[in-house]
Amino acid sequence: MPSDLLEISDLIVDYDIATLQPRPVSRSAVVARLMANGQRSAARLVQRLPASNDTLDAEACNLALLRSHIELQRLSEEFLQADRLRCVLLPLLQALRDAGVKPPLRIVDVGCGLGYVVRSLAAHGRLGRDVEIIGCDMNVTLIENARRLAEEESLSCELKVANAFQLEQPGHVFISTGVLHHFRGDDLNMFFAGQRQGHAFVHYDIQHSVLSPWGSWMFHQARMREPLARHDGVVSARRVHSTQTLLSAARTETGFTCASLDGARNLLGAVLRPMTATVGTRAELWEPLLRHLGPLRARLGPAR
Ligand SMILES: C[S@@+](CC[C@H](N)C(=O)[O-])C[C@H]1O[C@@H](n2cnc3c(N)ncnc32)[C@H](O)[C@@H]1O
Repeated sequence: MPSDLLEISDLIVDYDIATLQPRPVSRSAVVARLMANGQRSAARLVQRLPASNDTLDAEACNLALLRSHIELQRLSEEFLQADRLRCVLLPLLQALRDAGVKPPLRIVDVGCGLGYVVRSLAAHGRLGRDVEIIGCDMNVTLIENARRLAEEESLSCELKVANAFQLEQPGHVFISTGVLHHFRGDDLNMFFAGQRQGHAFVHYDIQHSVLSPWGSWMFHQARMREPLARHDGVVSARRVHSTQTLLSAARTETGFTCASLDGARNLLGAVLRPMTATVGTRAELWEPLLRHLGPLRARLGPAR
């Protein structure tokens, strides 16, 4: 049994993290890696992607990723991801204002993909005129399409091809949806370390539970058609980090006060709450956040 399953989307594109220039990816190397990890059907899927001289066709890979992200938006809609974030962002922003943080208050969505959450918050979030919403992704195809969709609705948000942790104007609040499980081991530590200069974060991902892969499989059978999306969606649910792993990395790397929101304490909890958030703020913002959270406060786990 493989110890850590791989997602195709993490393997078929590669970037230089400093310059964001795409790097060529060898199809046979990806296929070999998946085979060695016991993921035969994923290997077959990659084997079918076009390549020339064994280098994967970047355009074909990006189009498969685009189709997958279009389908992923269904999941975000179904699980009300933007509303979930809004419920935490409103009190969090109020805590930042109370603490005298100078506007504009910048919310940065790390790995925004097609920018569903950013676009939805810009359209319906009513977060305040002192708030800027910026979506970042390293994938040019996804951001070009995210921008087109934002322009169609004349939305007031920025969508950038950028490393979210290297912005000229760094974020005050970092958010993400469905991204945490892509960072493993040291990369998870680096993910949180990149937010140390910010004031707070709210990262949503699938609930860690034995039931999640089954739920994810059913959802993907019902709503997804793109083979890559179906494969990675189910693998994602098997790769999600435990609350303990997330809080430990978040606390160690940022020094923030952290807690999980909607972390399931039993199987019923996992059925009722398929998504959970890792929330953190600078120590001095935690009490004000709790005050402004109101009844939602009861859904926070113990702070660390
Ligand atoms: C699972 S996808 C995005 C999902 C998206 N949040 C959604 O809900 O539809 C993860 C994305 O994170 C991006 N990514 C990873 N690290 C990043 C970073 N440091 N800055 C910006 N984007 C990043 C990758 O390029 C990839 O497109």
